[in-house]
Amino acid sequence: MMRRKLVAGNWKMNGSCAALAELDGIAVAAAAAPGVDVAVAVPFTLIAPAAERVPALVIGAQDVHPAAGGAHTGCVSAAMVAEAGARFTLVGHSERRCDQAESDGDVKAKAEAAYRAGLTVILCVGEQLAERDAGRAEAVVTGQVAASLPDGAAAAWLSIAYEPVWAIGTGRTPTVADVAQMHGAIRRQLAASIGEEADAVRILYGGSVTADNAAGLLRAGDVDGALVGGASLTAAKFVPIVEAAAAL
Ligand code: 13P
Repeated sequence: MMRRKLVAGNWKMNGSCAALAELDGIAVAAAAAPGVDVAVAVPFTLIAPAAERVPALVIGAQDVHPAAGGAHTGCVSAAMVAEAGARFTLVGHSERRCDQAESDGDVKAKAEAAYRAGLTVILCVGEQLAERDAGRAEAVVTGQVAASLPDGAAAAWLSIAYEPVWAIGTGRTPTVADVAQMHGAIRRQLAASIGEEADAVRILYGGSVTADNAAGLLRAGDVDGALVGGASLTAAKFVPIVEAAAAL
């Protein structure tokens, strides 16, 4: 099964109107890499100006509330981010699972809300360091996939991002072999959950992806792209990752 590579940036709680200038160079690189899907998840406040500034680039949100609307002070619905110009959203990022105590059930509900609003979804999973050290990484991650997969999950609108928590923002990455093994386990779990459709679902790797390690990671079995944090904040760092995907 040939799956198009997807290289997505996650700006987390970084960026400003001035920083949107970085998207210009990213959009140029995306246009020059027609075989690769390129996307950037920006803070809520930057979705509309980003989508207006670079209409050809896929802009997304980093989270949505599971409800369509109502008394949820400070929260933002999937329809709201879609109206602002988002075409996708992350759900279940470890910084939300850990910092905001989001459960697999929350993540599933958010993914389903995103689908109802017409967004595509990158659903994040990943183990903590203590879980890896205890030999439980695969069980934890496949458990997260099984329990947070939305009803009706299909490759046309859902990708998975494997982001080991200990590799995020640390400069540490698993070996390419470890990544390939985990992605294989995720695909087997997807097959158990959704059958043959699992073959078409893209599984991204995230956690300290840089221009230097991107090509090696992207060549690994069952690695269909990258979810990039720190190195997505500037065109200078992100564009080489897009180019590495395009060169495969
Ligand atoms: P870093 O690339 O900064 O390690 O972040 C990864 C991540 O969490 C992307 O969602």
